[in-house]
Amino acid sequence: MSQPEQKTKVQYTKEEKKTLSKTIEEVFIRFTSSLKTAQIFEPNNIAFQQQIKPLFFLIQSLLKNLGKAILQFRGNALFFNTIRIRIDFHSYQRFKFLVGEFKEKEIEAIGFDPDLTAEELTRFIVIFAQSKQKKLKDFEDFIGAMESQGISNIFIEKLNPYDLSTRMTPEEIKRSCKKVFLKSIVHLQEVMEREKKHEKIHFKTTRRLIQSIINMISFDESFMLGMTNIKNFEEYTLNHSINVTILALCFGRRLGIEKSELLELGMSAFFHDIGKLDVPIEVLNKKGKLDDEEWKLMQNHPIDGLTKLVLLQDLSYFPVRALSVAYEHHIWADHSGYPKTWKKKELNFFSKIAKICDVFDAITTKRVYRDFSFTREQALSMMFEKVGEEYDPLLLKVFANMIGQFPVGTLVALNTGEVGIVVETNPEEVYLLRPKVKLITDNEKNKIDGEIVDLAEKDAESGQFKRTIVNTLNPEKYDVNIPDYFLAQATG
Ligand SMILES: [Fe+2]
Ligand SMILES: [Fe+2]
Repeated sequence: MSQPEQKTKVQYTKEEKKTLSKTIEEVFIRFTSSLKTAQIFEPNNIAFQQQIKPLFFLIQSLLKNLGKAILQFRGNALFFNTIRIRIDFHSYQRFKFLVGEFKEKEIEAIGFDPDLTAEELTRFIVIFAQSKQKKLKDFEDFIGAMESQGISNIFIEKLNPYDLSTRMTPEEIKRSCKKVFLKSIVHLQEVMEREKKHEKIHFKTTRRLIQSIINMISFDESFMLGMTNIKNFEEYTLNHSINVTILALCFGRRLGIEKSELLELGMSAFFHDIGKLDVPIEVLNKKGKLDDEEWKLMQNHPIDGLTKLVLLQDLSYFPVRALSVAYEHHIWADHSGYPKTWKKKELNFFSKIAKICDVFDAITTKRVYRDFSFTREQALSMMFEKVGEEYDPLLLKVFANMIGQFPVGTLVALNTGEVGIVVETNPEEVYLLRPKVKLITDNEKNKIDGEIVDLAEKDAESGQFKRTIVNTLNPEKYDVNIPDYFLAQATG
């Protein structure tokens, strides 16, 4: 949670502890009572006011004394900051009610900022209590409602992936993947428009979206990687930035980066090309070679990105490492590339990750000025030609393993005559060449909406593999739209 940390660890006397526990229990009681009354009464009703006012003052006093105020549902218990709320026979119904509300909205924690106003708290309680009437189905809808009500001093975090995934069907997970992907694009567009007008950027929203991407990757990594096949070459920077974020997060997970650090990696990737805002669209999309002046503008985007991020007023929800990534993501492992650096200091680890994901997405995307793109395997082999010079050797190897010999989204011909799309790579090293494939033609090349087959599957009698990849195919030549396949999987 990104609240200001408690400055010093206070040692409470027994008496103080008792008072604190009592105040926290009081918050719990007022919070549930406010929700219940808001389900029945209008916000200006006296019964509601009688609950919300004391709740507001209690939260304020706790913020003043403890520096943070977070109500959290963890391991089937409720906590306020780190203090467990005691539940007894009398409070059990309240506890059940509140836990039910948290689970339904997929919320793990609610945090209050010191600038919280009574009006904001009222609006929040009303949205929370009336979510069913307002048809807010999940966490993302709830966040959207909070934003539209201008609630910026309360933030919520999503229930941890394990609790959540056990309640979602594979189809629901795919739908959520698509939703998060599209929401991230819309949010980045908004960020860029705000940045152009020098307006405040809502980093809390960015953090929540990155958190959702991380959750979705932990549910269905292959599908989330599949989403990076979606390329909108006219809005290149938007799609590209989200694709780089997804690739970097999948990559970071493989590298064993911790969850809290993954959030920082995602934020860094999300903003890596923010400096491109200053490059005119005619230069970004120019067909043909850039002249010296245009090339200079292009090469300046890492410096512009760094400047933009440094000048942001509110860096409290922003990782400092994102500044390095914005500045260093075009610097090569041997320190060539751009911008030119005087000192050959070690590049930030996140910059090395972003560099690989950045190039991979760029060369697998068709551009306005280039009417072809490289397939994923072509891209990897091109990148390996510059291993050591441009890319960190060890990292590139891990990345290539993640993408797989036949990456998700590759169109493949099978020895049976069938054609299919790779939808999931096989995690076992010995089966790297045997991913899961969605069949799109039968063995006579008639188009079908076929099943998903596992190429590691053997025929029971002969002991031979049932299907094997013989070749990769160019989707354009076969008139197959890979992104459409992934989008279709996530609708309905
Ligand atoms: Fe860039
Ligand atoms: Fe980029």
